[in-house]
Amino acid sequence: MYQANNNRYNAMQYNRCGRSGLKLPAVSLGLWHNFGGVDVFENGRAMLRRAFDMGITHFDLANNYGPPPGSAEENFGKYMAQDFRPYRDELIISTKAGYLMWPGPYGEWGSRKYLMASLDQSLKRMGLEYVDIFYSHRPDPDTPIEETMMALDQTVRSGKALYAGISNYPADMTREAARILRELGTPCLIHQPKYSMFERWVEDELLDVLETEGIGCIPFSPLAQGLLTDRYLNGIPDGSRAAKAWGFLKPNQVEPAIEKVRKLNEIAREREQSLAQMALAWILKDKRITSVLIGASSVKQLEDNIAALRFLTFSEAELSQIEEILKD
Ligand SMILES: NC(=O)c1ccc[n+]([C@@H]2O[C@H](COP(=O)([O-])OP(=O)(O)OC[C@H]3O[C@@H](n4cnc5c(N)ncnc54)[C@H](OP(=O)(O)O)[C@@H]3O)[C@@H](O)[C@H]2O)c1
Repeated sequence: MYQANNNRYNAMQYNRCGRSGLKLPAVSLGLWHNFGGVDVFENGRAMLRRAFDMGITHFDLANNYGPPPGSAEENFGKYMAQDFRPYRDELIISTKAGYLMWPGPYGEWGSRKYLMASLDQSLKRMGLEYVDIFYSHRPDPDTPIEETMMALDQTVRSGKALYAGISNYPADMTREAARILRELGTPCLIHQPKYSMFERWVEDELLDVLETEGIGCIPFSPLAQGLLTDRYLNGIPDGSRAAKAWGFLKPNQVEPAIEKVRKLNEIAREREQSLAQMALAWILKDKRITSVLIGASSVKQLEDNIAALRFLTFSEAELSQIEEILKD
């Protein structure tokens, strides 16, 4: 029987999500990889337990996480039932709909039909009465944005979600989504964009829009799926994401990045932290960021990443050295 650590709230930092009343841990854990039907169930369980014991109150899912799609939510339902049921009110659980889940015209994108059906399926798989955050996973070029936002508003009004979020929306659509949701009376809580040292599109405009609109920001893949760690310094190890047939990081993405990774690793060593820790601190230095949404394949990685919170500041010299490395 799992008993959560009594000191779980002592070390974690909690940040207010935009102008909402909700606080999120500075580090959140996502279940995209390593929690599916193909993965080792007990390893996922150990990571979730350790995460919660270290103050990570936010677990992020989506309808399609696995593989196979849906299996991460199914497994999460088991972890909830076996370990976390007594702690439901201490947890922020999110899920999303947007990518392909079932055949036919109602199985992906942003129609009301798809979003409502998908959330019902997710709740069933996870054995939950509600999720804390329900996201539109990606903008839909064909569905009017009003329809997608009305569906999010409806999920909140029905009590199946407590807050609404958007993911992968560009700056202009984010502004529009925020306006519609505000008018509907369900403010947009949070945006989940891809953001790391290697992927910086949010810096152009999105972060400013989020600040103006009072929306929180939870960047995903802050370690560039593991590239911004020491994982690939000596090639592609067995069991790593790039080595797995179903991993979203492809072997041909590793080699072109590795020279920069080596240089960044040197700076991290001078700072006496791991590259993963430096990559997370580098994102968290911006006050518009609510939380970094990491993945992990072991308890050790999780612990390494949470320890990033011990040293979050950068000197001007370090920042310009990093810029130098990233620009060429
Ligand atoms: N909204 C969206 O469209 C979207 C898209 C993608 C992801 N997400 C969310 O973001 C979450 C995180 O994404 P991500 O998994 O790509 O994040 P990430 O943190 O960039 O990458 C996680 C991977 O990096 C490696 N790693 C992590 N910590 C490490 C450490 N300390 N040392 C060495 N290697 C380390 C592990 O790879 P190995 O497995 O090789 O050990 C781990 O699986 C997802 O779970 C999901 O919730 C959202």
